Amino acid sequence: MNDDAFSNQVSPGDAPICVLGLGHIGLPTALGLAELGRRVIGADDDAAKVRLIRAGEPNFYEPGLTELLVKHLKSGRFEPLEDVAAAVRAGSIIFICVGTPQKANGQADLGQVEAVAQVVARNLNGYKLLIEKSTVPAITAQWLKRTIVRYSSGKPQPGDEPAHSSSAPAFDVASNPEFLREGKALEDFFHPNRVVCGVESDRAREILTKLYAPLNCPIVVTNTSTAELIKHAANAFLSMKISFINMVSDLCEKVGADVGAVARGIGLDNRIGPQFLDAGIGYGGYCFPKDLRAFIHLAEEHGVDFSLLQEVEHINQNRVERFVAKVRQALWNLGGKPLGLLGLAFKAGTDDIREAVSLKVIEALREEGCILRLYDPQAMPLTQRLIPPTDKIIYCTSPYEVAQGAHALLLLTEWEEFRGLDLARLRNLMEVPVLVDGRNLFDPDTIRQAGFEYFSMGRPDTKSAGLHSTPAQTK
Ligand SMILES: NC(=O)c1ccc[n+]([C@@H]2O[C@H](COP(=O)([O-])OP(=O)(O)OC[C@H]3O[C@@H](n4cnc5c(N)ncnc54)[C@H](O)[C@@H]3O)[C@@H](O)[C@H]2O)c1
Repeated sequence: MNDDAFSNQVSPGDAPICVLGLGHIGLPTALGLAELGRRVIGADDDAAKVRLIRAGEPNFYEPGLTELLVKHLKSGRFEPLEDVAAAVRAGSIIFICVGTPQKANGQADLGQVEAVAQVVARNLNGYKLLIEKSTVPAITAQWLKRTIVRYSSGKPQPGDEPAHSSSAPAFDVASNPEFLREGKALEDFFHPNRVVCGVESDRAREILTKLYAPLNCPIVVTNTSTAELIKHAANAFLSMKISFINMVSDLCEKVGADVGAVARGIGLDNRIGPQFLDAGIGYGGYCFPKDLRAFIHLAEEHGVDFSLLQEVEHINQNRVERFVAKVRQALWNLGGKPLGLLGLAFKAGTDDIREAVSLKVIEALREEGCILRLYDPQAMPLTQRLIPPTDKIIYCTSPYEVAQGAHALLLLTEWEEFRGLDLARLRNLMEVPVLVDGRNLFDPDTIRQAGFEYFSMGRPDTKSAGLHSTPAQTK
């Protein structure tokens, strides 16, 4: 659409790229594009966040991000702004990276997406390609188009530029869903399995394929609804894999099988693949829970019975109770006992605790009257803000401090640094050397040889169930 007006405008190839929303997705995207040689203006309406970014301090932890930020503030290829409208006016290629939280009914809340679309509408000073990177349900692109048309036709708001009703410049809307993982955001930006571009014009296709060409990865070009659906389908499928292996894990416990060996045995089949087959206490984070619910809601809205996904969610929700039952089984009574929690972030490599399973475990154990000693390599400040310290919530400075006097250690996040802990030192610090491993991080034999009573997920007491599937034989 709108191809004619393009030739008179600044080439989108030359103008700075505009990234709206400088959070976990927007900031790595902006800096990744700067690293690819593009000039990028990033804007966020959270002025405090922008001030931090301008000072070279992202407000969240992501490996390598600070270094890249400092590099491109210095190179001048990245400019953070709090004036969203000014950023829109400066750019032709505009990435939407704002939040899409969930409403109480599970539906995606697209208020932030509409808000930036309105700003774009009121600042159409030339051709704009508006690209959804935020995770949005299918047909959001159609709403974006409608929003641009509506709000660029004569209802300017105070503080915004006047609209260009009669001679509104051309625009396109595209969907370019993001698949990067927190904790590996930059690695994933530069080495994606694929890039998905949902477009509705040759111009949008050309701009996006050119932009991503340096990444040398497959580019899947579709229409916008297909691209939007790919993102939700991908996250729903991965959640399903996790819930599936968690049920297999429960069954393994009943029949004396080893879920790790089962996962290897099925994962080596190319049709299944080895990833996302780690049994444990379930998924959390900003994406899987809310995206699954939004996908379920979308299916319901369109009269499609996708109850398979409701079961995926149900299984995941039950993991916490299952884990707490395991702790109870290990310790008998829980009330008043000090327990050490290793890991608070929803996964390793990030300080993000949004929908982290740890929070639910903490809640359940508090109800049991436990004294909780907590440690995470990155997520302590955010957790403390949410759950202030009390005489029963004690934040520690190391795993060893956590172990002091504890009747059990509970491993909740698979941080690599926990693998290298001095087990003898931990054991000596504990009142009772019990380890309940919610992520199957440790080798059962090693832990037991170190003098611990060890409980994990879906693994038998002896090695016999996994006898023929040692890593050396299968990897
Ligand atoms: N976090 C992930 O791992 C991940 C992965 C893939 C996709 N996504 C999707 O990407 C989107 C962003 O997620 P996130 O984790 O980066 O969220 P985030 O909360 O970290 O960042 C969103 C940013 O948008 C800003 N913002 C909100 N309204 C704004 C407005 N009107 N103008 C300018 N800025 C505004 C916020 O201040 C915030 O900094 C979501 O749709 C999410 O589902 C996230």
